[in-house]
Amino acid sequence: MTDFISLPFYDLLQQDGHVPRVREKLPPLVAGVRRSILEIGAGTGLITTSLAQWTPAEIFALEPSTGMRGVLLSRLSERAELLKRVTVLPCDALSVDLDEPVEAMVMINVMYALEPDYRKRLWPVLAGQLEPGGLLVFTWRDGGAPAPRPLQEDGSRQVGRHTYTALSEIVESSGEVCKARYLYRISEGDKVISEEEFVGHAYRPVRETIEEELVGAGFVLADAPEGFLSWRLARG
Ligand SMILES: C[S@@+](CC[C@H](N)C(=O)[O-])C[C@H]1O[C@@H](n2cnc3c(N)ncnc32)[C@H](O)[C@@H]1O
Repeated sequence: MTDFISLPFYDLLQQDGHVPRVREKLPPLVAGVRRSILEIGAGTGLITTSLAQWTPAEIFALEPSTGMRGVLLSRLSERAELLKRVTVLPCDALSVDLDEPVEAMVMINVMYALEPDYRKRLWPVLAGQLEPGGLLVFTWRDGGAPAPRPLQEDGSRQVGRHTYTALSEIVESSGEVCKARYLYRISEGDKVISEEEFVGHAYRPVRETIEEELVGAGFVLADAPEGFLSWRLARG
């Protein structure tokens, strides 16, 4: 399982990665949400705990990866008030089946993992789980897949005497899909203690494609800051 290679690095590197930007820009988008939020691909819960801080809503944190979910539950276990308010759903997004539609859905840094056919099937499923007029917000970077590039460092953190470093290379790129090679390295000074690699695909649709898919599923584009797209499910 590739996520077990990257898991020990996740919080270490993302705390300084996308998380500060999301914590700055997402609050106004979810400010009016009172009753319920579905967070799709909640990961280790870095955004889940912030959602709980920004809104009084009940939260459904959906996360298919056992490893990521383990860290999420560990994070919740220290917070009695969150254990009452957050339900962790151990399934993938297409399998979501809530007891009643939610008021809002949030999907942070998940789109890259969704194959085009899966993604196209997902929007109607989400529309069926969202209240009329409900909100769907996700992180967004336009422009299709990144071009091939050599190995580069994505981030690094010191943990005691050790340095945890993540690196990536874009091996191939075509349309909205790219093949990437990831390296996760632990070192002490010049000595590499461990290095694990995995190769996977990532997807980045262009704006036209995503608009067509979402409008086709009954969503209407709403205002969002740079780096996000926000949609409302049409009423009636
Ligand atoms: C980069 S992490 C983002 C985690 C979290 N949203 C955050 O911002 O820290 C991507 C997450 O999406 C999850 N994911 C991948 N495919 C998914 C799917 N089909 N349905 C739901 N979640 C998925 C992964 O397991 C992973 O936890």
